[in-house]
Amino acid sequence: MLAEKISERFGFDTGVGGDGEAEGVLAAVLERATQRRFRTDPVAEGLLKTLLACAQSAPSKSDLQQYSIVMVRDAEKRRDIAELCRAGRQMDEAPELLVFCADIRRGQRIAELRGHPHANNNMDTFLNAVVDAALAMQAFIQSAESVGLGCCPISALRNPIAQVSELLALPPGVFPIAGLCLGWPVEPAAISMRLPPSVVVHWDHYDDDKLADEIDAYDRRRHERRPIPPGKQRDVERLGEAAFYGWSENAARQLSQPERAGFRDFLKGHGFDLA
Ligand SMILES: Cc1cc2nc3c(=O)[nH]c(=O)nc-3n(C[C@H](O)[C@H](O)[C@H](O)COP(=O)(O)O)c2cc1C
Repeated sequence: MLAEKISERFGFDTGVGGDGEAEGVLAAVLERATQRRFRTDPVAEGLLKTLLACAQSAPSKSDLQQYSIVMVRDAEKRRDIAELCRAGRQMDEAPELLVFCADIRRGQRIAELRGHPHANNNMDTFLNAVVDAALAMQAFIQSAESVGLGCCPISALRNPIAQVSELLALPPGVFPIAGLCLGWPVEPAAISMRLPPSVVVHWDHYDDDKLADEIDAYDRRRHERRPIPPGKQRDVERLGEAAFYGWSENAARQLSQPERAGFRDFLKGHGFDLA
């Protein structure tokens, strides 16, 4: 039943789902999970191209389609990218690596081809291009997962963004928002429990008055299902080992350190004015 899938997703009975059958897209979305272990079997070329067509069917701001997808097939490039990113064994094992890029260059070239100025190298176009690329990646993921393939997005690809951009010959105006490992799963991946709808979904006005209590309860639910082992605590040398280490402590520790602080400078030197 759908209600069971929803309870599984949130770790408690939300009362949502009614008596709907667990089938079709709704069931597939509710039980999806990121996959990090892949068999070596290749993904058939025809299927891959169908999935790419699905990715290109995603909605796009003003139909401008300001994104590109790079299929990384060259073995040496794959190795180099994996070494640079240190993103885990999924990067080595996945039979396919896709790189989803925000792309304002194509619009600039089209403006030039049609003899018009391009007057939108700004934050808004940057955001539109990122959203387009993200939606295309999500359409790809959902389509791939619907036929039993596994996916793992890789934002770690942005750690060495300059080197990766050079390896893939990404010109100014094009940058990777994320990589995507693709392949046939070794085994089903565990479902990651989500924040309760009461925290994420607001009705008519934003309200986070009960956040502290809701997060405590969420931490406990997650811990009960799948505790984060002591060895996986972040930054223990600096912050010590926590007696109770829940999702929120992990998130707060991650957010306490600046990530990819050089990103803006890279973009500014790579064709994005961000005006
Ligand atoms: C934009 C984006 C970047 C991500 N980058 C990575 C990554 O670099 N390495 C990784 O193992 N997982 C990565 N993930 C997967 C998330 O860790 C995963 O979606 C999250 O833990 C929730 O788990 P679930 O997708 O199984 O529900 C990324 C996901 C997104 C949406």
